[in-house]
Amino acid sequence: MLVLSASSELFPLIKTGGLADVTGALPKALKPLGVTTRTILPGYPGILPRLTNVQDEAEMVVLGESVQLKSGQLEDLNVIVAHCPALFERDGGPYLNQEGWDHADNWKRFAVLSLATANVASMGLNGWRPNVVHLHDWQTGLTAAYLKAMGAQIPVVLSIHNLAFQGQFSSNVFGELQLPGEFFSVEKLEYFGSVSFLKAGISCADSITTVSPTYAREILTDELGMGMQGILATRRDAIKGIVNGIDTEVWNPLTDACISCNYDNRTIGRRAHNRAALERRFQLTADRGPVLSVVSRLTWQKGIDLLHPVLPGIMDRGGKLIIYGQGDPALIHPLIEESWKYPGRMVVHVGYSEADAHLLHAGSDIIIQPSRFEPCGLTQLYALRYGAIPIVARTGGLAETIIDANEAAMAARVATGFQFQPGSVEDFYHAIDRALTGFERPSFWRRLQNQAMKADFSWQRSAARYADLYSELRKDMAPDARIYRG
Ligand code: ADP
Ligand code: GLC
Repeated sequence: MLVLSASSELFPLIKTGGLADVTGALPKALKPLGVTTRTILPGYPGILPRLTNVQDEAEMVVLGESVQLKSGQLEDLNVIVAHCPALFERDGGPYLNQEGWDHADNWKRFAVLSLATANVASMGLNGWRPNVVHLHDWQTGLTAAYLKAMGAQIPVVLSIHNLAFQGQFSSNVFGELQLPGEFFSVEKLEYFGSVSFLKAGISCADSITTVSPTYAREILTDELGMGMQGILATRRDAIKGIVNGIDTEVWNPLTDACISCNYDNRTIGRRAHNRAALERRFQLTADRGPVLSVVSRLTWQKGIDLLHPVLPGIMDRGGKLIIYGQGDPALIHPLIEESWKYPGRMVVHVGYSEADAHLLHAGSDIIIQPSRFEPCGLTQLYALRYGAIPIVARTGGLAETIIDANEAAMAARVATGFQFQPGSVEDFYHAIDRALTGFERPSFWRRLQNQAMKADFSWQRSAARYADLYSELRKDMAPDARIYRG
């Protein structure tokens, strides 16, 4: 089985969040199941020099832009780079310029990526022909529309990692997309008078997956459907929830080169060295009080504003708090001001570093995720593996990957963390209070850590579900099935 995966992010080449972790890890997990993946990705600065065995594969003009397709490898990853300096080689990040604004031509950048992907999917690349196309998020959603317009006979899977990001642009761009006029309709990509790249994917893909079964249900509701619940309802039968896994090689406390001292469940005592390293790194007081951390995009989705009302309680109980990430200045600045009240006990660090993220998981006692909604969430899964106990809002993937440490779950030895009702400050603090009380009882805490570290969120099971899905779709698209479906 040959799969063409299309994504705007791919760990370790380019990452702003969990999307990269997933597209980077899934191909590795699919390989033993007989699925070979090539991932097409924009030629952002610095990507090509990191690849080995780089080959020029094709050259094409896409929406008036000259695009060279170059293949290359990075460890287990087979990459196709859409090399188009005019669109992708610039300062800033994949989506934002240096001032923090969207690149003004994002519609064109990702339309070009999508059409280049559709060309490879339909015509192949120097004899290589994929059996399935797997699109990720809005940046590649338009591919499904292009393939439909071409009449290409290749199954298309669209994975929605976060419905809040929809690739919405003015209807003025439609004329530039080179799609037939009928695509600007409510059944295809028209969305309240504008164009939505995600909606194009939702309406034209053969199968839609999202990153947890709970989120697959939530996106059909008015509350979390983000305006797409109507079109999603028409595709209800095509929607599947497949929970994300984690790359257990990249995230392994026993071999992690980014942390101060390696350990596993049996040698958990050594974890204390990482906690000490974390306290030094963030200039926290070295006392016995628990270290609670947030490692996240600092945005409304992640419930960062809900931290304010619980801060005094954490501080009164002798806790120490690290808030680490990047995001919305309007949420970050008040927290920075708050932190000045608690020198040595509270730090807000604005930054992005993979190594720091690893140390934070290895050294924190507790990782907090107060998300308002969370399609899957990977941080809580890394926390489990590193023996940091998650406190999470009961939503999306958080609800189904963390088992609350209530009496019954503790007695059954399955509890792994603490849950609270999303958006409720009162319940949030109650969960923190329960966790801090638990922390004061070493035998309870050790049991919880043991259960957390034994939880298996490797990719094995979920990769098998993707492999099954690819096979089913391929069967459905076999020539006989096509005739049968009329
Ligand atoms: P999302 O994709 O919504 O941001 P996830 O929990 O799925 O949330 O994934 C977030 C990923 O980004 C994790 O790998 C996490 O460690 C990483 N991450 C988030 N913020 C930072 C940061 N400031 N520095 C390093 N890694 C970060
Ligand atoms: C998105 C979601 C997050 C999910 C990640 C990877 O960024 O916000 O919950 O874990 O994608 O699928």
